[in-house]
Amino acid sequence: MNTLPTPSISPDFWHGKRVFLTGHTGFKGAWLSLWLHALGARVTGYALDPPTSPSLFVDARLADLLDSHIADIRNAPLLAQTLAAAAPEIVIHMAAQPLVRVSYLEPALTYETNVMGTVYLLDAVRQCPSVRAVVIVTTDKCYENHEWHWGYREIDTLGGHDPYSSSKACAELVVNAYRNSFFNPNTPGAHPAGLASARAGNVIGGGDWALDRIVPDCIRAFLAGSPVRVRNPHAIRPWQHVLEPLSGYLLLAQRLYEHPRQFSQAFNFGPHDRDAWSVHQLVQYLCAKWPGASMTIDPGPHPHEAHFLKLDCSKAHALLNWQPRWPLPRALDSILEWLETYRSRGDIRACILSQIRAFEASSPHA
Ligand SMILES: NC(=O)c1ccc[n+]([C@@H]2O[C@H](COP(=O)([O-])OP(=O)(O)OC[C@H]3O[C@@H](n4cnc5c(N)ncnc54)[C@H](O)[C@@H]3O)[C@@H](O)[C@H]2O)c1
Repeated sequence: MNTLPTPSISPDFWHGKRVFLTGHTGFKGAWLSLWLHALGARVTGYALDPPTSPSLFVDARLADLLDSHIADIRNAPLLAQTLAAAAPEIVIHMAAQPLVRVSYLEPALTYETNVMGTVYLLDAVRQCPSVRAVVIVTTDKCYENHEWHWGYREIDTLGGHDPYSSSKACAELVVNAYRNSFFNPNTPGAHPAGLASARAGNVIGGGDWALDRIVPDCIRAFLAGSPVRVRNPHAIRPWQHVLEPLSGYLLLAQRLYEHPRQFSQAFNFGPHDRDAWSVHQLVQYLCAKWPGASMTIDPGPHPHEAHFLKLDCSKAHALLNWQPRWPLPRALDSILEWLETYRSRGDIRACILSQIRAFEASSPHA
């Protein structure tokens, strides 16, 4: 039984806060932009154009709701200038090259974006006295994966088999060095902001159109009326709705702002064990609910992908009161609801906002 009080993302806290969000045109960035706007925050976004077409950023008409800058994270002077002009209190860094397969094709671009992008952002923050809290988004793949049956803790060894995972482990090391060197309250003249990193697993939700992710692959197949091609049916993933880690980032930013010393650390945000389903189970669930849907197994060969990876989230539970809220079937049903809205040309922004409200009203599920 859950004995923790319900974690609270406080509209009183977020109302009027100036937030600088990188990666706002992407999947997670679009959801977070809308949520922050609904909480009353004043959001400045910094990212390249939406990485997919269609995109949630365009479908939900997000450019109307925030101060959107389409620019490269590797352009350090422009990044610093844009951050300084926005004078944010909170910075959330999500801009990245986030795909394992692309990282095999474009390793240098992946490292430039994910590692040097983080360096440039933190350097810009150092010059910006208004900032009080910085959350750097990495991934569960930053750990050295031993295919263990227990979850990785924040103190476990960093690693990464492929360039994407390794680039995010490098970003974690960058965060650590900047925290020790420039954001350390024991260092005279240090920047007063709290600096934390957030590691989450495979997220799913309406509006993700990325290539080589299984839920978008299902969506494209359903809309085309063709079978879903499944690459790694037995791979088990810690699936979670995109609102789960986003709620963690918001709570973490709140706590960092209030208590920068205490919360300047790494945090895992993953689902409960029972939501670690195989790819096959997940596709089967969606196919059973979408009329006429079916799947076929693609025998490969495929590039290396980790088979089993789960996070131990005891720290986020204990220190942030963060808990997952939607069991996996609830998360998958919300994707089908979004898909029906998309297919029938309904109001995507209204659909996403109503899902955010439903999520806020849900209790943690133990
Ligand atoms: N989606 C997942 O399952 C997942 C899991 C773990 C971690 N993450 C992390 O969450 C973050 C967001 O992921 P997503 O799924 O929304 O990815 P996405 O591809 O949908 O969005 C990426 C965003 O980064 C921006 N971007 C890419 N290169 C850039 C550059 N050079 N300069 C400026 N902006 C650039 C894109 O324009 C876009 O706004 C990433 O840091 C990713 O590594 C995602």
